[in-house]
Amino acid sequence: MYKVEPSGETLGCSIHGMDLSKPFGKPELGFALQALADHGVVCFPRQSLDPSAQVAFSRQFGELEVHVSGAFQEPGHPEMMILSNIVENGKPVGLADAGQDWHTDMSFSKTIAFINVLYALKVPRRDGRPLGATLLANMTAAYDALPDDVKRKIEGLSATHNFEKFWEMMRRRSGARTSRAPMTEEQKRLKPPVSHPMVLVHPISGRKSLYADPGYTVGIDGMDKQESDELLDFLFRHQLRPEFQYAHRWNEGDVLVWDNLRTLHNAEADYRADEPRLIKRCQAMADRVFTPEFAHLAQEYGRPQYRPA
Ligand code: SIN
Repeated sequence: MYKVEPSGETLGCSIHGMDLSKPFGKPELGFALQALADHGVVCFPRQSLDPSAQVAFSRQFGELEVHVSGAFQEPGHPEMMILSNIVENGKPVGLADAGQDWHTDMSFSKTIAFINVLYALKVPRRDGRPLGATLLANMTAAYDALPDDVKRKIEGLSATHNFEKFWEMMRRRSGARTSRAPMTEEQKRLKPPVSHPMVLVHPISGRKSLYADPGYTVGIDGMDKQESDELLDFLFRHQLRPEFQYAHRWNEGDVLVWDNLRTLHNAEADYRADEPRLIKRCQAMADRVFTPEFAHLAQEYGRPQYRPA
């Protein structure tokens, strides 16, 4: 039997006793889906995965995205990206500053992302303390805490998301660890701006989340620019209130899975170039989680072992 250990914070639990290198059956998938719906972020500690196994594990949750940057792909696995500050023979082995500000993965995509699957191989440490945490923010709690008039205002509205916003922000950032070329016309064609509802009903929990993020959301559709800027500014400050935030402090062997439908995240850049961090990432899209099949699996196999009251 698997053991679920909730973090006791706004997000997060650990699941002990699951071996992610073996294919999931329906019970394991349903169990993991319900844990994700309940806790938003799930850590599977002490895993040992080769790239094929990480890809196979991630693919059980949805179609895998090949990142539009086309950079730092795991050899033989374009759907896996290497996140690292390690330089070997003068060449960076991974993207050194991936995700180093608040955002939701793939909100800029027509089909949005369901989960990220990150596997830690090297964790920077100073004085025994792990660095390079992944910070996450709970958008279900953020939605619940919105004033009623704001909830009424955003209900039924959609916002536009654009990949170029985050890319350009990172290009302009002084001291950026990776130099980024401007987006090519082909990249822009592949990822044009897209609209998504600002209130997202979770397909498994049925709960509402705020779906807008400072990384990619550029404007509220059909709203005057000044009003849209002011409302987004309010929402961006609101959603990052400390009580909605959770920090995952890494150990080697952790597989961290988070639900992008109800979280924002930010990779903390508090380690130096000589303190190596190596993480491999897959992203599964939300093409299956909105089907009744996934909700049924979660309902059938996710209960009642650990559901919080
Ligand atoms: C990301 O997926 O945005 C990167 C997160 C991290 O490296 O902690």
